[in-house]
Amino acid sequence: MKCVSILAAEAETRELSLPASATSCSIRIPTLNNKGSMITRECEQFTEFIKVATLPNSRVLEIGSAFGFVALKALSKGASDYTANDACEDHLRILAKSVMDTYPDRHDNVHLLPGRFPEVATLLASESYDAILAANILQFLTNDELVEAFSQFRRLLKPGGKLFLSMLTAFADFLPKEFLISFNANVVPIKNLEDFQNYPGFIPSLKAIDSALTDDSFFAFNIDVTKFLLKREHFAVDYCDYDWTKSMRPWKTDGRETLIAVAKKEQ
Ligand SMILES: C[S@@+](CC[C@H](N)C(=O)[O-])C[C@H]1O[C@@H](n2cnc3c(N)ncnc32)[C@H](O)[C@@H]1O
Repeated sequence: MKCVSILAAEAETRELSLPASATSCSIRIPTLNNKGSMITRECEQFTEFIKVATLPNSRVLEIGSAFGFVALKALSKGASDYTANDACEDHLRILAKSVMDTYPDRHDNVHLLPGRFPEVATLLASESYDAILAANILQFLTNDELVEAFSQFRRLLKPGGKLFLSMLTAFADFLPKEFLISFNANVVPIKNLEDFQNYPGFIPSLKAIDSALTDDSFFAFNIDVTKFLLKREHFAVDYCDYDWTKSMRPWKTDGRETLIAVAKKEQ
């Protein structure tokens, strides 16, 4: 775990700062490692996670927090024990600088954990968190990493702890239409790990299906695969559906680009 004051000083020395949005009215700030964008509008899911974060003595963990939009909101509302993780340490340096610039007297309330999830989770103690948020990060994991990630979610949450997820789907607008057609033709209900390994939503290299995309792998979720991963770890699923709220328009496919899930670790 790294201290906010140390990473903020490193950001200062290296003159790191929050990248500009693509356009002046955009709610998306591009990441430094080409892993999509950080959303700067509070959706209902972020609000629910922040509510848990600001309860007395609450401890929360955010995976893939980028530059810390949710962390800073939570801090502004009184979160007292917030761990922000990201695979890109420079994202966390920029987050740390924002904390020192905005809430210098509360920097001890934020802990920074650079490294890739789920590997980095081994540094964290079991049953430590009241809530975990993983928004728009799980699509970067492989099948095996996803199995491990959900197992770590279960291990890290306290009994009764809440998991808030949002994931991209096969409807994601940057994917070629041919992928959605082939996905729909091949997808079947998932009953066991073998079905999961054969799930047609995993793309080993985006570049292989569209030369304009990065060489990253991509996991396109659907409701069934998300429920499978949650139930396998005995989570009670409170909610799992496409983001029909259209809170982040413009959507091209009625909000099905994103899937939202809220689940509870049973006592
Ligand atoms: C699309 S951004 C999402 C940022 C923010 N959670 C949001 O919803 O606005 C994905 C972030 O996850 C981080 N990331 C990607 N893979 C990761 C991994 N395996 N472990 C931790 N962070 C990861 C990226 O560095 C990036 O900051």
